[in-house]
Amino acid sequence: MKKIDIILFCLLLAPCILMGQGLRREFLLEKNWRFSKGDFEQAANAAFDDSKWQQVAVPHDWAIYGPFDRSHDLQQVAVTQNGEKVATVKTGRTGGLPYVGIGWYRSTFDVPELKDGKKQVVLKFDGAMSEARVYVNGQEACFWPFGYNTFHCDVTNLLHTDGMDNRLAVRLENKPQSSRWYPGAGLYRNVHVIVTEEMHVPVWGTYVTTPFVSDSSASVRIETNLENADGKAIRILTDILDSDGKVVAHKENQQKLNYGNPFVQNFEIGNPSLWSPESPSLYRAVSKIYVDDKLVDQYQTRFGVRDIKFIADKGFFLNGKLRKFQGVCNHHDLGPLGAAINISALRYQLELLMDMGCDAIRTAHNMPAPELVELCDELGLMMMIEPFDEWNIAKCKNGYHRFFDEWAERDMVNMIHHFRNNPSVVMWSIGNEVPTQCRPDGYKVASFLQEICHREDPTRPVTCGMDQVSCVLENGFASMLDIPGFNYRVHRYEEAYNKLPQNLVLGTETSSTVSSRGVYKFPVEKRGDATYSDHQSSSYDMEHCSWSNLPDDDFALAEDHHWTMGQFVWTGFDYLGEPSPYDTDAWPNHSSMFGIIDLASIPKDRYYLYRSLWNKKESTLHMLPHWTWPDRVGEKTPVFVYTSYPRAELFLNGKSQGIQEKSNQSVQHRYRLMWMDVLYEPGELKVIAYDTAGNVAEEKIIRTAGKPYKLELETNHDTIPADGKSLAYVRVKVVDKEGNICPDEGSLVHFDVKGAGSYRAAANGDPTCLDMFHLPQMHLFSGQLTAIVQSSEQPGYILLEAKSKGLKSAKITVKSEGL
Ligand code: GAL
Repeated sequence: MKKIDIILFCLLLAPCILMGQGLRREFLLEKNWRFSKGDFEQAANAAFDDSKWQQVAVPHDWAIYGPFDRSHDLQQVAVTQNGEKVATVKTGRTGGLPYVGIGWYRSTFDVPELKDGKKQVVLKFDGAMSEARVYVNGQEACFWPFGYNTFHCDVTNLLHTDGMDNRLAVRLENKPQSSRWYPGAGLYRNVHVIVTEEMHVPVWGTYVTTPFVSDSSASVRIETNLENADGKAIRILTDILDSDGKVVAHKENQQKLNYGNPFVQNFEIGNPSLWSPESPSLYRAVSKIYVDDKLVDQYQTRFGVRDIKFIADKGFFLNGKLRKFQGVCNHHDLGPLGAAINISALRYQLELLMDMGCDAIRTAHNMPAPELVELCDELGLMMMIEPFDEWNIAKCKNGYHRFFDEWAERDMVNMIHHFRNNPSVVMWSIGNEVPTQCRPDGYKVASFLQEICHREDPTRPVTCGMDQVSCVLENGFASMLDIPGFNYRVHRYEEAYNKLPQNLVLGTETSSTVSSRGVYKFPVEKRGDATYSDHQSSSYDMEHCSWSNLPDDDFALAEDHHWTMGQFVWTGFDYLGEPSPYDTDAWPNHSSMFGIIDLASIPKDRYYLYRSLWNKKESTLHMLPHWTWPDRVGEKTPVFVYTSYPRAELFLNGKSQGIQEKSNQSVQHRYRLMWMDVLYEPGELKVIAYDTAGNVAEEKIIRTAGKPYKLELETNHDTIPADGKSLAYVRVKVVDKEGNICPDEGSLVHFDVKGAGSYRAAANGDPTCLDMFHLPQMHLFSGQLTAIVQSSEQPGYILLEAKSKGLKSAKITVKSEGL
């Protein structure tokens, strides 16, 4: 690895490894993998010929290249948690992509250090989908069934000591009906090799807590675990560095270790920079470990100093300040990239959410990629990390229930050890809508899991996303959790608050409003489970599922009751799979409509509704629908305005349509300005917003579009690193001669990339579109789509050209900068 890579790598990963004096070396196995779908009896053996297999780079998702097909993972099931009593065929439930089956990956790695004496070598998989069997030099090294969790295995004794290449082979198997959404497939997260001395800090070997936190001082306690250290006198020198790299505390301690106990050090930091979403300050503890004056390991742990309290009747306090979660739930896929992890894609997602005012993420319903947690630490998003969608009772025929009894504790321990030093993580969730919640013994399973959290990390409370409100209020399940978390059922919150001893209620999952970007349905009315012949949902944000509700209900609950702790909206981003309300044999729908942001990373109207309330720093003024309705002349075409201002006046072609003011007339009137009786005529729609003092604050105009004239490209990513991984998201629009977006345009756009990068993927956010993401062409949806280009390792310029028949083409240049 080049020096610059090491520094970048260390910046991105915590706990991170200090290179030094050949003591510890960690590297990723990214390039030169061979992959094939199918099963091969001899593929674990070093001599197996894989030369005909596909050459791939890891992270890799074998299923995202499609093609989409209705027959992929057809599920005949009654989704009881959605109130279904009769089993029906569910199409597109897992994205209509070929994730089911067996796949093999093969690679080699080299550990020259083994020639110089005894070392320890560990392989760490951040996630492998799924039922991973890892073979080194022909022998099975480890097995880990759960595809979302990080696991590691000591492979020291399986390696060649003469410096020869070691053969790594991984067999993965995804059973049909093993998921309720698109799980991805393959080695979709990073694979690490960690080489240390025999005596060393093991994977996730430190635990940093801050027992006392105030503005003027904080105490920091670091437990350092050491392997092969029993009976030895150990000396550890630890520096604590602030985000500028300045040493703010230092300790040197000596201790004899016995019985595998950790080495404990305590520190005080004066005037600490407290971690919060508004100020995500981070510290690093850098430890040097000596035995008999010999340096045996160096280890670095990134952490934050912050105080969390959950107080009955009052709510959640971060650093002494009350706040309500403005959170979203997200599945792990990155839309057109599938499940294959990519830091710049994750960063882009988080930046969009933060601009909306979002301050928290729930990792539904699985362990996240470590890169996501690191980014949340750095950017300032709080996290609820959740491991399971199933415990010991099935939701999916081949789901995690098959492994729960044997593996749940190991999965929990890995998850907690992995993320307990990350300041962004403020609570654990032990599960989502598990059917176990209504079984007489359900509370025992919940208690077993909660106890694991308390044992491994007493600093964070535990919640669970509960949906069966009647039984959990009666059977003791809800009352034993640290934090009662409810999914939907807003009408039961007050009852839950009154009945439960915790005197707090968290919206672990809320809203599940459905909409398609740029699609509007008439008449505009609140509807549950509405379906249409075009298989879309209305972007007036008035449609939800039978079990769910509209965003306004959740806003009101958070505002009206001091004991509500805020919410995690289902979902921040659209995801592959679960195409409700078009999941019952309604192919070609294959992706969700719940997202506030669509699969192409383009905000839907709903984004601005949340932003108008949640983004306290900047104003919001957003108007819908678009104003190009040739078939609606003279018809009532309601206009909604999502705004942070209290009042606004609407004008159509200069004629006032009246002033609207937020009011208590209905829950929608509290949060939206609505002109329900506007009679459509083409032209100019203008809204003028007034501030609380009654002054004109801002205005917005939308105009009726003329004929589609040209493509337009824009990106926020003008410059990206030349690391072979970074991405630039380019928005593609069709506009008329005056630059107005043509909202119905759906033509096919072709892409060509030249220079220092390559075409990566595109998406348009249409849940019915079967265009493959990785091919350099895609249909527009509601006049827009997003194309993604990737840098190469050579700095230079990446040129993306977009062409479409009958339209003026467009070009954009992205700079790819050397590291
Ligand atoms: C919830 C469930 C989520 C998702 C959502 C859709 O009940 O927890 O995983 O299925 O419904 O509304």
